[in-house]
Amino acid sequence: MNKNCAVILAAGEGTRMKTSKSKVLAQVLFVPMIDWVISAVRASGVEDICAVTGHLSEAVCAHLGDTCETVFQPQRLGTGHAVAQAKNFIASHIGGNVLVLNGDAPLIDAKTIIDALAFHVSNGNSATVISATVNDPTGYGRMVRGDGGLLERIVEQRDATDDEKKINEVNSGAYWFRCDALLGALDDVAAMGREKKEIYLTDAIEILLNNGKRADAFTAESADVILGANDRYQLMKLNEIARERILKENMLSGVDIPCTDGVIISPQAVIGTDTQIMPGTIITGATVIGSGCIIGPDTKLDSCTVGDGSVIDSSRCKNCTVGNNVTIGPFAHLRPGCVISDGVHAGNFVEVKNSTVGKKTKISHLTYIGDSDIGEGVNIGCGCATANYDGTRKFRTTVGNKAFIGCHTCLVAPVTVGEHAYTAAGSVVTQDVPDGTMAIARSRQSIKRKVRKYNED
Ligand code: UD1
Ligand code: CA
Repeated sequence: MNKNCAVILAAGEGTRMKTSKSKVLAQVLFVPMIDWVISAVRASGVEDICAVTGHLSEAVCAHLGDTCETVFQPQRLGTGHAVAQAKNFIASHIGGNVLVLNGDAPLIDAKTIIDALAFHVSNGNSATVISATVNDPTGYGRMVRGDGGLLERIVEQRDATDDEKKINEVNSGAYWFRCDALLGALDDVAAMGREKKEIYLTDAIEILLNNGKRADAFTAESADVILGANDRYQLMKLNEIARERILKENMLSGVDIPCTDGVIISPQAVIGTDTQIMPGTIITGATVIGSGCIIGPDTKLDSCTVGDGSVIDSSRCKNCTVGNNVTIGPFAHLRPGCVISDGVHAGNFVEVKNSTVGKKTKISHLTYIGDSDIGEGVNIGCGCATANYDGTRKFRTTVGNKAFIGCHTCLVAPVTVGEHAYTAAGSVVTQDVPDGTMAIARSRQSIKRKVRKYNED
């Protein structure tokens, strides 16, 4: 059994973010920061995770659901105090190691975690601090090294001497500890904190070294892993770094992004080779896109599945499934619950909601399809609408295979148009149309012969 576990510190207030929400729920590429941290931990092979919540704990716990355990820190007395709230969790992993992370540093990655653990274990360390070398160390804890470059302690910005402030190797806030060593040090960490009025987890390093234990730093390859967001400007910077990272990953796996302007791709999205993502396209959630598609420009896909060879131009799609060789847009809106089959065309100013659309059906222009089941090979003319809502309840519309819905037809649900049936242009269809028939539901045209000439000078 893998005894290793992780504790994520997420109780802080994030005052500088100026938000009514929890800071760890602030989003990077539309994913809350704490989810990035959890994903990195999971990807490194650590299954058991405990988050320490405090400020706006209810919202954080509600967001986390059962993705991990949580413990409550009643007061924000410092990172050492936060970790102490997870004592029981850590004790249940004795014999293994605990990874401690900040919930507001989303760019930590699995490789750094794995490499740091290998370093930690092979050196028999009680504690391994993941550090990074940065140009501007302001605000971070500095790694104080003594003779021979050996780590001695971590000093926080506010306690550092002028010389110590010049050290540009900083603490990332991520550490591997042997569970027993960390538990053994927590009382001393709390005692040191009483002198400083804040309980620093970083003091555990000095305490362990003084007790003859091994503690060292593992320097991360990229300084990005340490970056946290204390305010919205830093949050934007994290977004920029993360955006570039995800776009690069996609490009290297065969996605064509000729210009990255305004392109944002979620870390959860999976996109096939030879698919082209055009400028202004935002792909969020666990969207899956096949190969050879053209998505964008100016398109937003949220939690959608798209097959191969489909084109989605200047459109919005949310919680939809789109098949192969489908063309959507320009300016179409697929709302949640749509299943669009292979070869469908939904053109400009078409809105589809909570509906299934069969293979090769064409809905080319200016049409609303809601709560409907549209068959295969149907043609829906320009300017049609399903009247699915009577002000209180919603009803479904069914259109059979190869039916032809004339321009400006209004299908008043619940109603069924049969296979190979027609509706005449301008019809308001309130009764079922049997297979192979034509419904004409409009007033007959009359001609008045004596009329004044229009626009005659
Ligand atoms: C901490 C480190 C610093 C490191 C930096 C990296 C300490 C004392 N300092 O400083 O060495 O360079 O992270 O970003 O650990 N939290 C709680 N409960 C608390 C206090 C904090 O859960 O009582 C959580 C916060 O929500 C946050 C994390 O711990 O996710 C770090 O706390 P923060 O106050 O941001 O520490 P830093 O000053 O950034
Ligand atoms: Ca911080």
